[in-house]
Amino acid sequence: MIMASSPRNVFLQGGNTTEFSEPVLKLRRLPFSAPLGSPYIKAADRPRAPISCSAVADKMPATVGGALDSNSLTTRRLMTQTFIDQAELMTVSSTGKFGRFGGKFVPETLISCLSKLEAEFILALHDENFQEELATALRDYVGRESPLYFAKRLTDYYKNSEGKGPEIYLKREDLVHTGAHKINNAIAQAMLAKRIGRKRIVAATGAGQHGVATAAACAKLSLECTIFMGSADVGRQGANVLLIKNLGAQVKVVDGSFKDAMSEAIRNWVGDLETSYFLSGTAVGPHPCPTIVREFQSVIGKETRKQAEEKWGGKPDVLVACVGSGSNALGMFHEFIRDEDVRLIGVEAAGVGLDSGAHSATLARGDVGVYHGSMSYLLQDEEGQIIGPHSIGVGLEYPGVSPELSFLKDNGRAEFYAVTDDEALDAYRRLCQLEGIFPALEASHALAYLEKLCPGLEDGAKVVVNCSGRGDKDAATVYKHNEERV
Ligand SMILES: Cc1ncc(COP(=O)(O)O)c(C=O)c1O
Repeated sequence: MIMASSPRNVFLQGGNTTEFSEPVLKLRRLPFSAPLGSPYIKAADRPRAPISCSAVADKMPATVGGALDSNSLTTRRLMTQTFIDQAELMTVSSTGKFGRFGGKFVPETLISCLSKLEAEFILALHDENFQEELATALRDYVGRESPLYFAKRLTDYYKNSEGKGPEIYLKREDLVHTGAHKINNAIAQAMLAKRIGRKRIVAATGAGQHGVATAAACAKLSLECTIFMGSADVGRQGANVLLIKNLGAQVKVVDGSFKDAMSEAIRNWVGDLETSYFLSGTAVGPHPCPTIVREFQSVIGKETRKQAEEKWGGKPDVLVACVGSGSNALGMFHEFIRDEDVRLIGVEAAGVGLDSGAHSATLARGDVGVYHGSMSYLLQDEEGQIIGPHSIGVGLEYPGVSPELSFLKDNGRAEFYAVTDDEALDAYRRLCQLEGIFPALEASHALAYLEKLCPGLEDGAKVVVNCSGRGDKDAATVYKHNEERV
């Protein structure tokens, strides 16, 4: 059922609704052709750093081999193909549609602003200076690469009576600066904002991790920063509110939760398009926001591929990530979408239970609709009004979800499941006590799914769980629930 929801605080429908019916895997193999007038064409007119030979070498089939001569016809053809591949990987279409999902459902006045942003984003991606600065920031400021950690005791815990079971690895995004994957995207987008001359950053946060990451990036780059946060979340994630303020950002409290903070942040940005930049923390919103976030988070999957190759000389068999709105899941999955032998598993929040009405399982229980400028699965009632989400993992509470994940659900490339608050709390404690690692409650949802996943896997299967953040912020919540249960 397609429902075009129109609650208050939501961007109006309209804009470009062109749809592409081809599955993404097929589209990516077609020659790239940008529609006339698209930002791709405009971007192509401007000077662009050449794609390096090493980028081309990565794409070459193993059988080609040999050193690359940048003047040879074969190399130039490969370079052209690499640009095509990169452009296609960046986005499915210039309107940002993933099948029927995504798009730019915004008032006309915003279209040109979003198109300019897309063009600048593509230029930055092909600018060697920008890429070099970003690589330095990711290494020296963020602390990448994050380790791929073999969780020996967790692995032992899931062995069957014959001592067999999968091997479990954690991608340690909890170890990066500010304690979650959010910084990968925040620092990159803050650099993009600075590059295009914006002075002021506006962002919304739920769990506070994106708020802290954005405030830190803004301090480093000398940008003014305003973070919108829902009143319900300010109480639950108080430590992060203090950090955001200490980092020099302004916190604006909005009645409600993350979705309300997001609406208010977008409204604030729209009121000052010339100097402000809306720094989206997750892969939702109008195109190109989901693509920008996905692209800047894809470092997670790229590192995972390299580290798996180094550790066991192969690929992971299964990737598991929690799904709030989609940025850590896509950050890990995107690199592997074409590797059909790698299972992609997203875990949503079933809250108090999928039938309780108090959950955030948008892909499991939502209907298609439009919210915050794009089409995706959405928690909504019969009249298209938003149903407030619930999860013990505050960062999972959003009624929509990434359009790209919505598409991966529909075409069956990724699998999605949901775990309850209690299951996530158990997983938090399990990781604390078996590995001495305290995961964010959001990431605990991905860990909780191991209970159902592991018994069905082959001996020695390599499972990588995205430990998307650290759980200091959740220690009191977990402790309190523990006390109440005893
Ligand atoms: C640690 C952590 N993991 C996951 C999420 C969920 O967001 P996303 O689905 O965009 O990764 C959040 C959101 O705040 C978070 O803080």
